Amino acid sequence: MSTPLHTLRAGVIGTGFIGPVHIEALKRLGIQITAVCGSTASAEATARQWGIPEVYGNHNYRALVHSPNVDVVHITSPNKVHVEQSLAALAAGKHVVCEKPLGMNTRETARLVAAAAKSDRVFAVNYMCRFFPAILQMRAMVTRGDLGKIIHVQGHFFQDWLLKDTDYNWRLRASEGGKLRAVGDIGTHWIDAVSFILNARVNRVFATLETFHKTRQRPRAEVRTFARVDPAALIRYKVDTEDFGSVLLRFDRAKHGFADGVHANASISQVAAGWKCSLAVGIYGTQGSVQWDFQHPNEITLGRRDEPNQVLQRGTAGFSEDIAGFTDYPGGHPEGFPDSHKMHCRAVYEHIVNGGNAHPLFASAEDGHHEVGLCESILKSSRSGRWISIQPPLKVRPRS
Ligand SMILES: NC(=O)c1ccc[n+]([C@@H]2O[C@H](COP(=O)([O-])OP(=O)(O)OC[C@H]3O[C@@H](n4cnc5c(N)ncnc54)[C@H](O)[C@@H]3O)[C@@H](O)[C@H]2O)c1
Repeated sequence: MSTPLHTLRAGVIGTGFIGPVHIEALKRLGIQITAVCGSTASAEATARQWGIPEVYGNHNYRALVHSPNVDVVHITSPNKVHVEQSLAALAAGKHVVCEKPLGMNTRETARLVAAAAKSDRVFAVNYMCRFFPAILQMRAMVTRGDLGKIIHVQGHFFQDWLLKDTDYNWRLRASEGGKLRAVGDIGTHWIDAVSFILNARVNRVFATLETFHKTRQRPRAEVRTFARVDPAALIRYKVDTEDFGSVLLRFDRAKHGFADGVHANASISQVAAGWKCSLAVGIYGTQGSVQWDFQHPNEITLGRRDEPNQVLQRGTAGFSEDIAGFTDYPGGHPEGFPDSHKMHCRAVYEHIVNGGNAHPLFASAEDGHHEVGLCESILKSSRSGRWISIQPPLKVRPRS
């Protein structure tokens, strides 16, 4: 009999937009949340709302990772503290679920890959798009060869919440979020999802990046993600991250023959009016294609040249039986963004309590490091106007 997940206790660092998404996902799985950390006022409010007993204000994450009542640390703070907080959690003997991107640059994320490899704890990066049943279904179709040999992949990740020059978030500043913003923040979700579907790694990139608002205005204090900004009392600043990226990718080293040498192109934008959160992907093979959009997560469109196209819906005969393990509600009862976090957490916590698959489906520290490396290569390509080859995966000495 498998160990129930509620035997594990979680601590969450970060109480802004995504911290509560983790909390809600964990609560839905019956996992105990014993500690929370953030700014004092926000950590206290979050603890009151969710009934969390231990509160660490003033961003005192060290106290949280050393709490004897925490087994798994969720890091949902801004990017620039992910590596330091992950290293501290691993050193304290905790399992870690870290938000993406894993860190600010590959120099620091390489340290994390090494620390995770030496530890006997589970380390996951929250590229939770992998856990949408539609993405798993597309991966199964590619692996089985249902679409024939994959030729090319096309798509976008579009949002509009940073369209105006008065829209503000810490991500806009390279010192807070990393040198790449649109690509680092949402583009890596697209690349990770496509790599997961193809079961292949990006080998080369060519990119062009553009900052449409060279200067913007911002409030004097930080605001929560997606929060409306008061247009009074703003200060002007120079923007050092991109609003838009156009990226060409070449995938190699596929785990099977159907997805070797695939070309992909994606547009990434946080200034695309009308699009709130549209991660769209189309996979095109010699026998057919399949398309999906994050904003309509319960269905995929199957395209055939000589037969009618089909819309396949989650929870119906169109989705493979094994995909049903990643969905809790019957067809016609939509699941979406919060459910993908729940399924990601479930996969990680089941792995912690039951061990099992040596190659779990969730993203590892090495995967997170790879995405940060891709961002660096994308920036290099945009600056040089050249294709850039990606470094092979880090060789880390496994735990003895
Ligand atoms: N996987 C996803 O779908 C997804 C979605 C949104 C955000 N994210 C990631 O989650 C992270 C947080 O993003 P957000 O949108 O929630 O940001 P946010 O600004 O809304 O919230 C950040 C929180 O972290 C706290 N914080 C700031 N500095 C801290 C520190 N040193 N120690 C502890 N807490 C600190 C803030 O008080 C705030 O509560 C980012 O890395 C982002 O990329 C992931």
